Amino acid sequence: MKSFNLAVIAGDGIGPEVVAQGLKVLDVVAAKYQVNFVKKNYELGAAFWHKTKAALPDDVMNDLAKADVILLGAVGDPSVPSGTLERGLLLKLRFGFDHFVNLRPARLFAGVKSAVTNSNNIDFLVVREGTEGLYVGAGQVKDEGSKSELATEESINTYKGVERVIRYAFNKAKVRPRQKLTLVHKNNVLVRAGGLWTRVFNEVAKEFPEVKTDYLHVDAAAMFFVTNPDRFDVVVTDNLFGDILTDIAAAICGGIGLAASANINPTGKFPSMFEPVHGSAPDIAGKNLADPTATILSIAMMLDHLGLVDAARDVETAVAQDLLNRKDSKRGTDEIGAAISNAISKAVA
Ligand code: IPM
Ligand code: MN
Repeated sequence: MKSFNLAVIAGDGIGPEVVAQGLKVLDVVAAKYQVNFVKKNYELGAAFWHKTKAALPDDVMNDLAKADVILLGAVGDPSVPSGTLERGLLLKLRFGFDHFVNLRPARLFAGVKSAVTNSNNIDFLVVREGTEGLYVGAGQVKDEGSKSELATEESINTYKGVERVIRYAFNKAKVRPRQKLTLVHKNNVLVRAGGLWTRVFNEVAKEFPEVKTDYLHVDAAAMFFVTNPDRFDVVVTDNLFGDILTDIAAAICGGIGLAASANINPTGKFPSMFEPVHGSAPDIAGKNLADPTATILSIAMMLDHLGLVDAARDVETAVAQDLLNRKDSKRGTDEIGAAISNAISKAVA
């Protein structure tokens, strides 16, 4: 029997609730496909920070590095200064484990009503760069609190960092039916970073003659995500543009409760990490109101990453069926998890 070490960081707010449902689905699918997941829980997040004043100690990080994959619920709480857990925990994981691909599918499932677009044919993939750009934390503050305060945030882009994520995106586009890749940047204003991204994109494109390419400025892309999302197949973009665009992508696909993501280290040197795009939503935490679907779809991405392709499709099919039947039913977090788990155990492998 195949066995994988799964590190679980349930985190804050609705994190533990959605993770519990995700693991319920994983248990069912693991039994069905004869795979074993050895789970280890990590008590990271707001409570741990209050207790220790550390977001992610190095010994915990070293222990996490031994896992095959990581499942993360959500981190962040109003009682912790903004940025502490975001930078100290979530981004420390993404950077420390060199998750240079942040994969975020945008798919409008049948039966789901998009709040903001009339399109019913949305199925694209955003490849967001994960380890560079404005997220590196470069910059400075001078004369803080004074009228002469100066604050800078510097976007770092390296040839190596840009090339590897663009190459990954081309490889993704190559095996999809439409074989199309759109570069999104702002190379008319951010001429240095935009110049590098555009040059590398055109260079790598030569190796993929079968992939159709185009380019959009990020502002136009934001508009087309809403007005004409059918035109996208694979999108590759920098860290912050990708962050913003994927919230729009979530909105056009039925909301943040359905948006899955994967932070991938394609080299396999460190564990990849799977997490719903949504945050900890403290306002609805503990009320059985959160939708676990984003976590369950992130688990499907995890199964794909581990090469358990049939299991991944099984989870996706069960989610698709659940969304088709959902209509306006008001079900709790646990009922949605149970419905999807039951559908998987009933369906023939
Ligand atoms: C996301 C989140 C994170 C990001 C935050 C919480 C650091 O918004 O995963 O999209 O900006 O990447
Ligand atoms: Mn975000």
